[in-house]
Amino acid sequence: MKDTVTSTDVQNQIIEAFEFRHAAKVFDPERRVSESEFGTILDAARLSPSSFGLEPWQLLVVQDPDKRELLRPFTWGASGEMNGTEGQLRTASHFGIFLSHTGATMSHESDYPRQHAAEVKKFPAEFLDGFHAAYSKFRTDDFKIESERETTDWAARQAYIALGNVMTVAAMMGIDTCPIEGFDADQTSAVLEEHFGIDPKLYRPAVMVAFGYRAGPPMFPKTRRGMDEIVSWF
Ligand SMILES: Cc1cc2nc3c(=O)[nH]c(=O)nc-3n(C[C@H](O)[C@H](O)[C@H](O)COP(=O)(O)O)c2cc1C
Repeated sequence: MKDTVTSTDVQNQIIEAFEFRHAAKVFDPERRVSESEFGTILDAARLSPSSFGLEPWQLLVVQDPDKRELLRPFTWGASGEMNGTEGQLRTASHFGIFLSHTGATMSHESDYPRQHAAEVKKFPAEFLDGFHAAYSKFRTDDFKIESERETTDWAARQAYIALGNVMTVAAMMGIDTCPIEGFDADQTSAVLEEHFGIDPKLYRPAVMVAFGYRAGPPMFPKTRRGMDEIVSWF
């Protein structure tokens, strides 16, 4: 047996994981992702990069079946209604909802960016004005993030980086996932406020993600555009 792992081995493992991953429509309800593996998945999310390092998202892990049922009526992308199954909501071992932070914290006028830079990023005091100026310029001049919607969309983009990472590390451990945008955001927000105590002024649902073990083979074959249709070299 080889005692060293070569770059080729790692490349093969990566491609294997990407070929393995598909958007699982229904999971084996009897199989559970172990605490340790789910811990690794959460680490991958937490250690993901974000613009300006501001980590403008939260993750809710919804394990209570009754709470999951509250989401079903308007979460058509995970209810199974599209494919005649119990769907991801009823069968997933773990079910996550990424929330975007809103302008209440992510506006450059709020205290959060500077506070986060000082307390979490541990920037020295003399860097804080420069950091804040760069963030303000980014929002107002460079990316022109003006409306509340633009702010939560930017925050959601950061959540999607974590989303991609959790799906990949899950696949590397042989765990299936499904990203889910098939839900009514306003109704989700209302349920999160009423039943989960999530303040809609602070958080907006961005995307959901289900974890588990596939109940059967993928419903659809994996197809993609060719590399030369996607990538242009200059
Ligand atoms: C952001 C995002 C949202 C998605 N939302 C849903 C969804 O609500 N329900 C679902 O079954 N699949 C959903 N999908 C899965 C896509 O349809 C799927 O990834 C795509 O068709 C490619 O297939 P594959 O992931 O199996 O390779 C979503 C994918 C992404 C990336």
